[in-house]
Amino acid sequence: MFTIEVVSVTEEDLPTVETPNTLIVSPLGSFAAEPTAAAAEPANGQSEKARPEDVPPTAPSPSMPITKVQPFLNEDDLRKSVWERALDHRLELLVSVTAVVVITLSLGIGLGVGLSCAGKFRCGASSKCIEALLQCDGKEQCENGEDELSCVRLSGRSSVVQVQRAGLWMTVCFDDWTIWLGESACRQLGYNSYVASSSSPVNSIEPELQYILVSLDSPHGGVVKLHNMTIISKSQCTSGKVATLKCIECGFRPQYTSRIVGGNLSRPGQFPWQVSLQNKGEHMCGGSIITPHWILTAAHCVYGFSNPVEWGVYAGITELPGHGSAALEVDKIVYHARYKGKLDYDIALLKLRTPLLFNGSVEPICLPNHGEVYEDGTMCWISGWGATENGGESSVVLRSAVVPLISTKECTQPDVYPGLISAGMICAGYLQGGVDSCQGDSGGPLACEDSSVWKLVGATSWGIGCADANKPGVYTRITQSLSWIRQEMEVRTREETLQAITAN
Ligand code: ARG
Repeated sequence: MFTIEVVSVTEEDLPTVETPNTLIVSPLGSFAAEPTAAAAEPANGQSEKARPEDVPPTAPSPSMPITKVQPFLNEDDLRKSVWERALDHRLELLVSVTAVVVITLSLGIGLGVGLSCAGKFRCGASSKCIEALLQCDGKEQCENGEDELSCVRLSGRSSVVQVQRAGLWMTVCFDDWTIWLGESACRQLGYNSYVASSSSPVNSIEPELQYILVSLDSPHGGVVKLHNMTIISKSQCTSGKVATLKCIECGFRPQYTSRIVGGNLSRPGQFPWQVSLQNKGEHMCGGSIITPHWILTAAHCVYGFSNPVEWGVYAGITELPGHGSAALEVDKIVYHARYKGKLDYDIALLKLRTPLLFNGSVEPICLPNHGEVYEDGTMCWISGWGATENGGESSVVLRSAVVPLISTKECTQPDVYPGLISAGMICAGYLQGGVDSCQGDSGGPLACEDSSVWKLVGATSWGIGCADANKPGVYTRITQSLSWIRQEMEVRTREETLQAITAN
């Protein structure tokens, strides 16, 4: 930050200046023509006009009459009231006040329109905002239709189905639920798959999910948009249950049998969702498999390298370079609309050209649900081929470590990362140092096991140094970017379906 030192200067400190009786008035104001100006300034050194170097360079000719003046000791001027002095400067005052008002207004309007969208819905990264009431109303108001995306979500520990209309999220009762609705919901969540619908008693789910209950008028087959169905609001679910949904088998390690292994080297199948992202054959970052088509990573890994052709994804390996197995080709790279090359919104998605086959050594990790909270102190796993010391080479073998989640409160302490941790980040590690992710681990998983299902809580993003005391690892908080992830997956899955239709 740039700071200016204010030096206190008293009248005695100021030199006696030689000033001609008549002066050419400089364009920036009046110097000796108005000695009152100098007298009116507080004697704290900010009196620009009394500083000798400000004397206009037009030096008086030797023939000019010279009078010695001491600008601060004009008694008449000292006796003038603040108001009189202000009056002497009314023009300057008026100009500067107007300038300040104009600048503040234009900045305010600019920021308001461009950045805040207060109370409204912003169309993707664009500056267009629409009324919140128009979100998920069945009609596209945004250019790219973002207002009709992310209209379904899974919430809470039990993956409760919620639909949105007019910016309001409602929990769906199991009452008239059908597999058609389940399949449609999964499609809207960006999956090509559907596993099962189930139900949970209303009183067993998180209280905030119980407030607004609705049932959906069930279609008889076909893919629909849930938020466009007839929504019947209910004070209670007739069945006493709400709909829960599973779109993909994820978060399992079918090939892993836990056994104590040397150090923190990982065993095949221990992190089946871990991939190595390689640019022109070189390991750059980690990533996590979330569906057969999608890899989640950090935006800074692909920012400026967004040509899919240069990238290869290696799945189901523990040793680098892994070139024994074929690299999976990348079809598309998208990073968060709000990522600006800094620390915030450090998340990206890679779409694979051909879908992955899950076989035990390659498996997807579950995305967390909306509203899920992870208590600080929860032990989670980080993994990757990153450097084993700050500035070191990447590791040949996949390594992993257990780290506790750190609350944002603790992570923003003055000696940790004051003012640097946003709502979209989560810290994990040890304040005493020693265990951490490092360069080359970025984009990889921060995975937490939650009743024997593994969930992706974070993506490795940044840290100062590696494993230093009070400088834990910082991870992109996945729950904060869920709607962006869903939105991207839904759009691309829709594009694919359209392509398939036109191709047939
Ligand atoms: N930005 C690094 C990367 O690109 C990850 C750094 C993580 N640092 C840490 N101290 N946890 O790989």
